[in-house]
Amino acid sequence: MKDSKIFSKLLVTGGAGFIGSNFIMKALEWRPEWKIVNLDALTYAGNPMTLGDYSRKKPHRYKFVNGDIRDADLLEWLFRREKFDHVIHFAAESHVDRSIDGPQAFIDTNVNGTCALLEASRVAWERGGRDEKFRFLHVSTDEVYGSLGPTGAFTEETPYDPSSPYSASKAASDHFVKAYHRTYGLPVLVTNCSNNFGPYQFPEKLIPLMILNIVEQDILPVYGDGKNVRDWLYVVDHCEALCRVLGEGRPGESYNIGGGTEMSNIDIVTLICDMVDDRLGRPKGTGRKLIRYVEDRLGHDRRYAIDPTKMTDELNWTAGTRFSWALKETVEWYLSNMDWVKAIKSGQYRKWSDTRYSGRCFKPEKKRAPRNTGVEVLSHEEEDRGGSDKFWDELSKRRL
Ligand SMILES: NC(=O)c1ccc[n+]([C@@H]2O[C@H](COP(=O)([O-])OP(=O)(O)OC[C@H]3O[C@@H](n4cnc5c(N)ncnc54)[C@H](O)[C@@H]3O)[C@@H](O)[C@H]2O)c1
Repeated sequence: MKDSKIFSKLLVTGGAGFIGSNFIMKALEWRPEWKIVNLDALTYAGNPMTLGDYSRKKPHRYKFVNGDIRDADLLEWLFRREKFDHVIHFAAESHVDRSIDGPQAFIDTNVNGTCALLEASRVAWERGGRDEKFRFLHVSTDEVYGSLGPTGAFTEETPYDPSSPYSASKAASDHFVKAYHRTYGLPVLVTNCSNNFGPYQFPEKLIPLMILNIVEQDILPVYGDGKNVRDWLYVVDHCEALCRVLGEGRPGESYNIGGGTEMSNIDIVTLICDMVDDRLGRPKGTGRKLIRYVEDRLGHDRRYAIDPTKMTDELNWTAGTRFSWALKETVEWYLSNMDWVKAIKSGQYRKWSDTRYSGRCFKPEKKRAPRNTGVEVLSHEEEDRGGSDKFWDELSKRRL
């Protein structure tokens, strides 16, 4: 990694989720000069286990704060105390199906939460003399562009045309981010990425859901005719791209980040079936027998594809990891980290997914006796005590 600027303090929001936690792990490894505060509300999708050890292993470089991006007082206190050079904003409600069932939470976090974070950033940035190296990087989605036909790809100039409450809320937040640049001059960056996959993804999303259902020999629900196409991006490649944008992106600009691997849902499910069968020594075709086509998602976009020319030309970035290798690594990660998966699946996720898919060919997990997984989930208060300065004392006093 050889981006040109050196930064010190990052506020990462949503760092207990899938991409945010991968980003923090990689950033701490790649950027020894970075100190990170992870602000996460620990919704159903936030897992404190993922980065649990880091507050102990790297107390001077990593802190976790369990808080909400809509909490203006907390934000003000954090910005005053930590004097961030950078904000990288992952926190969101991120699952399209959930947005169809209940859009309000998406408006609350994705729109209002982003606005609260923008305002706190602006105030701190102006108070600090409008530091020219300050950056606010907003992590968004290619879904803001809507659906493509069989050809073509989204560029940064493609007009927004979101289909779901999720993508509409992300589109609204993108517009607010851009407005803070145009109105106040805040040095913002927006990235619009395609579907990520890799370790630590919450098992309601396609790839982990399929891997885990194949292991359990449960039904594999595939929406519609299975021919919806996505452009798959390995999460580590995405993290590299984000570091590149943060370091070298031009304020006020958007950057599309794609993996360059277009694949239909049914093709990817079939591939995963064969990989898992092979890894578990099951006869080929065992997994495929579990595939069931279920009623299509409402407003389901047919195809997404990213034109990554701007990332390549301006920032010299392309997705470097071979898709088949990355998918195999991901399958291996889930099969080797069943304790992580089980800890998640014992929570609220189970109730929700049972309701969502009942009658739609989804079989709820068979009940099993709890067993000691050897993984202890600490409360954030306990976990955070690894910090060596007065930060935690101040934070807890503030909450009394
Ligand atoms: N996963 C993908 O394929 C993908 C693709 C394109 C864009 N994105 C975007 O990337 C970002 C991260 O996605 P992800 O897949 O890691 O999401 P995720 O659902 O795994 O994680 C979201 C995190 O945000 C936290 N959070 C939610 N509401 C919060 C609030 N009000 N305050 C503080 N924290 C809150 C959750 O606890 C969770 O840890 C999102 O903004 C998403 O829209 C994701």
